Amino acid sequence: MSKESLANLLTEERRFAPPAEVAADANITAAAYEVAAEDRLGFWAEQARRLSWEQEPTETLDWSNPPFAKWFADGRLNVAYNCVDRHVEAGHGDRVALYFEGEPGDSRVLTYADLQREVSKAANALTELGVAAGDRVAIYLPMIPEAVIAMLACARIGAPHSLVFGGFSADALATRIEDADARLVITADGGFRRGQPSALKPAVDEALTRPGAARVRSVLVVRRTGQETPWTEGRDVWWHELVDRQSEEHTPQAFEAEHPLFILYTSGTTGKPKGILHTSGGYLTQTSFTHHAVFDLKPETDVYWCTADVGWVTGHSYIVYGPLSNGATQVLYEGTPNTPHNGRWWEIVQKYHVTILYTAPTAIRTCMKWGDDVPAGFDLSSLRILGSVGEPINPEAWVWYRKHIGGDRTPVVDTWWQTETGAVMISPLPGVTVAKPGSAQVPLPGISATVVDDEGRPVANGSGGYLTLTEPWPSMLRTIWGDDQRFVDTYWSRFPGQYFAGDGAKKDDDGDIWLLGRVDDVMLVSGHNISTTEVESALVSHPKVAEAAVVGATDPQTTQAICAFVMLRGTAAEDEGLADELRAHVAKELGPIAKPKRILAVDELPKTRSGKIMRRLLRDVAENRELGDVTTLTDTTVMELIQRKMPSAP
Ligand code: WT7
Repeated sequence: MSKESLANLLTEERRFAPPAEVAADANITAAAYEVAAEDRLGFWAEQARRLSWEQEPTETLDWSNPPFAKWFADGRLNVAYNCVDRHVEAGHGDRVALYFEGEPGDSRVLTYADLQREVSKAANALTELGVAAGDRVAIYLPMIPEAVIAMLACARIGAPHSLVFGGFSADALATRIEDADARLVITADGGFRRGQPSALKPAVDEALTRPGAARVRSVLVVRRTGQETPWTEGRDVWWHELVDRQSEEHTPQAFEAEHPLFILYTSGTTGKPKGILHTSGGYLTQTSFTHHAVFDLKPETDVYWCTADVGWVTGHSYIVYGPLSNGATQVLYEGTPNTPHNGRWWEIVQKYHVTILYTAPTAIRTCMKWGDDVPAGFDLSSLRILGSVGEPINPEAWVWYRKHIGGDRTPVVDTWWQTETGAVMISPLPGVTVAKPGSAQVPLPGISATVVDDEGRPVANGSGGYLTLTEPWPSMLRTIWGDDQRFVDTYWSRFPGQYFAGDGAKKDDDGDIWLLGRVDDVMLVSGHNISTTEVESALVSHPKVAEAAVVGATDPQTTQAICAFVMLRGTAAEDEGLADELRAHVAKELGPIAKPKRILAVDELPKTRSGKIMRRLLRDVAENRELGDVTTLTDTTVMELIQRKMPSAP
């Protein structure tokens, strides 16, 4: 992040106190910070009692072998029972769990009793397909109720799920199936996207041609769009044929608190994606607590809506596990915000009287672009709390969100966390914190975070550095699937004894935390983290490309736009169709989101003497800036050549 935007953030002086009525009735008050500070582990042991355990834990944290944590290790529970059955048993079977809104306008309402029946049938179906506790299940589905049902069915039988975002390509799916060694894939014929059915099943078929995916025994296919679907007899099974005929009874079995719940892949800066492993008791404790505290959820009256896809961690923690463990009523929406019109989201808020909305800064900026009059055309007066996640939210977007969506009365909570942290770590509390637009502000009760310098020492207020987490937390990742050493190296070696999140941050004069983005080479495109290395590897896998360097250049719409510099192979010519050809190739390898916006063929790439590409210089070029320090370059004339080839910014 440039010095300029840093200065802008820190001159932000607007303040927004919690509304009196939210403060008066808040689930969490300021006292929670003191209670947790006095006895952090006692605080988490207390939060674990939010859940229903078959065997209550007597141990809270085992940190005898850091950084490998065990939370509530002698406790036993069933995660799906906690998210579904116990609400039915408590007399809330008629409460709506999901208001599903399909993109074409179809809708479905599922109560907790419905969900219990559907999850039980699905669990019985998985068992019939031979899935046993510990077997991994890959889930590649659109945003339909079956995605939630499939996740809970896996949790119910102790089979860790691995969701792969429906926008990912067959290659990305194959890598993830292979790494997790999945035995079953749950998918759909397709989903609706921008008014069109968009096929999913063909990508599964292609992924399963890879030798590494040979151990997948069955593919369970939900019929969503009704489009024609390729079929492999003996392997493929329709959901409606198998699940619908199952018994509605299924007795959940309790598993150890540290039983794996899911694997979710994040793009690494180097090499293959990392399979982030989350387990059961600690994860559910923290997602449940944070959802209750940060969104002030009142399950009897609130209608909650998180716009994320279930394929991302936000969907895991704040569509499935957090809200359902708390007995929330929520909206699940399949499609895009502008189908069939730019006000679709606000129409949904109006239709279901949504009270709590959780979305990402990139979506907020897009809505700002579409104009204030769009949300103004709908009744948004039901909203009482707004949340943001995924990247730093610019103060202007924060203020716009509060004013045009929240009627200038709702608190906005800017929640910082990661796939790795499993749940929210740093966030204002809506009934407690005097909010500063653009700042996540304070670690939640029970969480220890700080900003450190290069030597790992906490910085003084008013200074910047690296965000670290200084104590283990219940929903922390337990390891990288199959690679403990990479877990240690990636997160725990930069600052020994502290977890390094990879983000830069600054403490203001009050000690509040402002996130400044990733310090490594991950690009942020429309709320998605995409690694430079993955895109470079995809480019280089094209026969015409010898070498590639990719940078994220600041872009007003998508935060960053992918800009690629490629060196062609000797025989390849730089013709007109090249950029499109490479873009299509990247889309196939990684998915359309990873397509470079600009591609420039160059003769050389700037490298250090040790052979490392100097991406920061390329970023300078892509952003039309004067070049930074070029002294460590092998050949300084390289940059002049590149600059001469660069057309001025679009
Ligand atoms: C990275 C984690 C957490 C779910 C979605 C992303 C950035 C996330 C914020 C925020 C500033 C944020 C960080 C973080 N990030 N929330 N409120 N303010 N930055 O999960 O894909 O694992 O990405 O997203 O850079 O490290 P993820």
